Amino acid sequence: MMSKILPLITLLVLLLNPNLFNARETIETPIFPTPLPYQGYPPPLDPKLVELREVILHFKGTITCDPKRVTDTWHPEKSPCEYKGFYCGHPPKENHTYTVASIDFNGFGLCAPTVSGFLDKFVDLALFHVNSNNFSGTVPDVSKLRYLYELDVSNNKLSGNFPMNVFTIRDPVFVDLRYNDFSGRVPLRVFTLPLDVLFINNNAFNRRIPRNLGSSPVAYLTLANNGFIGPLPTSIKNVSNTLKEVLFLNNKLTGCLPYEIGYLKKATVFDLAGNRITGQIPYSFGCLRSIQRLNLAGNLLYGKVPEEVCALGALRNFTLSDNYLTEIGPVCESLVGTVLNIDDNCIDGYPNQKSPEECHAFLSRPKNCPVIDYVPCKKHSYSTPEHPAAPPPALSPTYSALHRRLL
Ligand SMILES: *[C@@H]1O[C@H](CO)[C@@H](O)[C@H](O)[C@H]1NC(C)=O
Ligand SMILES: *[C@@H]1O[C@H](CO)[C@@H](O)[C@H](O)[C@H]1NC(C)=O
Ligand SMILES: *[C@@H]1O[C@H](CO)[C@@H](O)[C@H](O)[C@H]1NC(C)=O
Ligand SMILES: *[C@@H]1O[C@H](CO)[C@@H](O)[C@H](O)[C@H]1NC(C)=O
Repeated sequence: MMSKILPLITLLVLLLNPNLFNARETIETPIFPTPLPYQGYPPPLDPKLVELREVILHFKGTITCDPKRVTDTWHPEKSPCEYKGFYCGHPPKENHTYTVASIDFNGFGLCAPTVSGFLDKFVDLALFHVNSNNFSGTVPDVSKLRYLYELDVSNNKLSGNFPMNVFTIRDPVFVDLRYNDFSGRVPLRVFTLPLDVLFINNNAFNRRIPRNLGSSPVAYLTLANNGFIGPLPTSIKNVSNTLKEVLFLNNKLTGCLPYEIGYLKKATVFDLAGNRITGQIPYSFGCLRSIQRLNLAGNLLYGKVPEEVCALGALRNFTLSDNYLTEIGPVCESLVGTVLNIDDNCIDGYPNQKSPEECHAFLSRPKNCPVIDYVPCKKHSYSTPEHPAAPPPALSPTYSALHRRLL
């Protein structure tokens, strides 16, 4: 359990660089700045902190459950910098201001009808992390928050359409909406944001994946466990220089498996399991030279598994179970049982295959997917078919995101 959750924390720590205030600029402000010099007792509070204390105490009045009694520390006579969940710092270029720079309520289990009227008042806030609370409502307008770059509202009770106020974040780097009750359409604009991380898995989005996926600079993307329909956007080939991990698993995607996926030369994780994607596995997949985990299980794929894919040197887990594949060659054969899972297909001579009747019923239907043998990488750049003693699986932020809670 621990090892599955750790990677996300590693990622967060990476993003939570020592400068709370600006993810992309050089370090100016330490994460926990040295306290102001002693100035007599009680030290005068920054006027901004006096105002924010009012905001916090008002919010405290709206909280309906607090299983860990964290709000006991939100005392009207203390500085908000001493409250559990609040961290203070100097905003960039304002070394005379000392105010709340980060809110971290991860795992507090607080219940409140909304964070509107709260989050939007912290104009100098850089990070808002509230994983595993019971907040309802949606994301408020945060356009006044000049430095906000990480928004994590995962595992709450937020609902409604995609929270359009995400677009009021000026320079977002990390947006985590997973495990809420958002539904409907994901707007095209989401893929124009300058994000490194977008987690929207485990909601109820039920329209098409925006076709401009290829415009996104995102490295870690989870769309898993929603109700997305329609095809995978072929613009995915445009993200070949940036996309590292993507999870489409458990949606209702249809259409042919696009050969454009083969362009994802940086991708280490690609998971499309549990959809209704059909076609043959394109030869272009032999160009996925960084791929470690490739999961296409539970779809409607047929035909031969290209040997070039099984020859990929970084491949550690290739899951093809529950499809209608009919053939594998010697390179793939050598991986069965270790790296490759081909259970529940239509491959003669292998155990745990579908019944001939089921295979025949599917395979005799007309097939409309084109066979594209175009290979967008040079042949000689295929890796050698060697699978040296597998190192432990690489840390995967996206698979970690399939868990509700951070630690
Ligand atoms: C404020 O910070 C800047 C940059 O770190 C520094 O040059 C300047 O001396 C500081 N001003 C005061 C009054 O501390
Ligand atoms: C908060 O949400 C959790 C998870 O959904 C639930 O188990 C718990 O009962 C909720 N607490 C309250 C007080 O509503
Ligand atoms: C993908 O790249 C092509 C060629 O560079 C460009 O014409 C197209 O608009 C891009 N698509 C997206 C969605 O960014
Ligand atoms: C390979 O990946 C599948 C799907 O994610 C998973 O169920 C399986 O346990 C993995 N196998 C190994 C050996 O890690």
